[in-house]
Amino acid sequence: MNSGKLVLLAIALVAVGTVVMPQTASLFAGQHWWYNISGTGNQVPCQKCHADVFEELALSNFHTHWGPNGWNVSAPGTADQYDCAACHRSNLSIQYALVNGSVTNYQPGKQAHAASVVACMLCHQMNASKATWAPGYYAGGFNITPFVKAGIIPPSPYNYSNATYNGMYAAHNAFIAMAIKNNTFPDSTEACVACHTHVAVKIIWHHKRSLEFDVNITNPVTLSNGVHNWTISDWKVNGTATAISWGNTSGAGNTSYWSGWPGNVSNIYS
Ligand code: HEC
Ligand code: HEC
Ligand code: HEC
Ligand code: HEC
Repeated sequence: MNSGKLVLLAIALVAVGTVVMPQTASLFAGQHWWYNISGTGNQVPCQKCHADVFEELALSNFHTHWGPNGWNVSAPGTADQYDCAACHRSNLSIQYALVNGSVTNYQPGKQAHAASVVACMLCHQMNASKATWAPGYYAGGFNITPFVKAGIIPPSPYNYSNATYNGMYAAHNAFIAMAIKNNTFPDSTEACVACHTHVAVKIIWHHKRSLEFDVNITNPVTLSNGVHNWTISDWKVNGTATAISWGNTSGAGNTSYWSGWPGNVSNIYS
């Protein structure tokens, strides 16, 4: 082909492109191929749009064995849209949009269509009767009652403790209570996620700098090796020492920001 013909061919192609392209480009491939939603459970592939969440979930040993008809039906570590539905379409007080078995057997979504936001405690509270997919696994051992009584937090709709699982010595009651107060996620989910998942956590700790108290000897008792009977009173904690703790997604912690740490820092999972 000589260069004259090439130029002609190029012009012809561009001309065809300008005529044909605008029409075809406005039509998406797949646009007229609907997912079959007549089967049991959620047939819409959540992972199509939430591939990042899907890949994370697939790395987990639990929360991955839900199927269309129940839980513990697929292998741990194999994520699918039924796992998403198990949590995000699980609230028994919410009516979700659903086609079940046949096209005529449907219900419209009421409080949520595809998915609702969810609190960990929907399923992990005692007897978890408000969720579809929650056979037990009570978290237990937190006591938020004093925070509710003092008006610091609103009452939680979920059940954290009872006479047996009373959280009397729990170290993280305030963490849970203040997560309930915070509205990033529903209820105390921020705190659950902070401990139980690979999310990065940065905490600015405001410690007290010193422990201070008075020591007096008002009624001295002299023994063979000296004066005794000291009284210790007026205990105080004073000053502020600030420490910043960075916890990265792989579970390592440090007081320096994680860039430049040993280990993998090249992606978001560092
Ligand atoms: C076609 C893409 C698409 C599909 C499919 C999809 N989502 Fe979403 N999802 C979005 C977009 C966009 C947002 C953010 C905008 C919004 O909140 O409306 C979102 C937000 C969310 C949120 C966050 C809501 C919040 O307020 O924090 C959840 C949870 C969620 N989706 C779950 C699901 C589940 C479960 C499925 C499967 C039943 C699903 N999504 C299917 C596009 C999609
Ligand atoms: C839809 C109900 C549901 C929700 C919501 C839910 N879970 Fe679970 N969770 C379960 C079930 C059922 C199991 C046990 C079966 C399994 O592994 O899937 C479980 C297992 C666990 C386990 C392991 C327990 C064990 O004994 O090995 C932990 C930890 C856990 N969940 C934490 C969380 C956290 C944190 C959240 C919130 C981010 C959460 N869960 C949200 C239902 C739920
Ligand atoms: C064990 C329960 C559980 C499972 C399984 C689960 N989620 Fe979530 N998801 C949560 C909780 C708890 C939150 C935080 C509160 C909220 O926004 O609902 C959340 C938040 C989200 C968000 C908003 C925050 C973000 O990271 O973007 C999206 C989107 C989402 N989930 C999608 C999905 C999809 C898609 C799947 C399936 C691949 C899935 N989830 C499986 C419990 C779960
Ligand atoms: C301060 C960190 C921390 C917080 C906050 C936390 N957990 Fe845990 N959780 C743990 C530890 C530690 C274990 C035991 C781990 C082990 O056995 O390896 C555990 C165990 C569990 C288990 C399995 C044993 C059981 O009690 O059923 C579940 C389920 C669970 N947590 C759910 C939750 C939920 C839901 C929340 C939020 C309300 C939460 N956790 C908040 C640290 C935490």
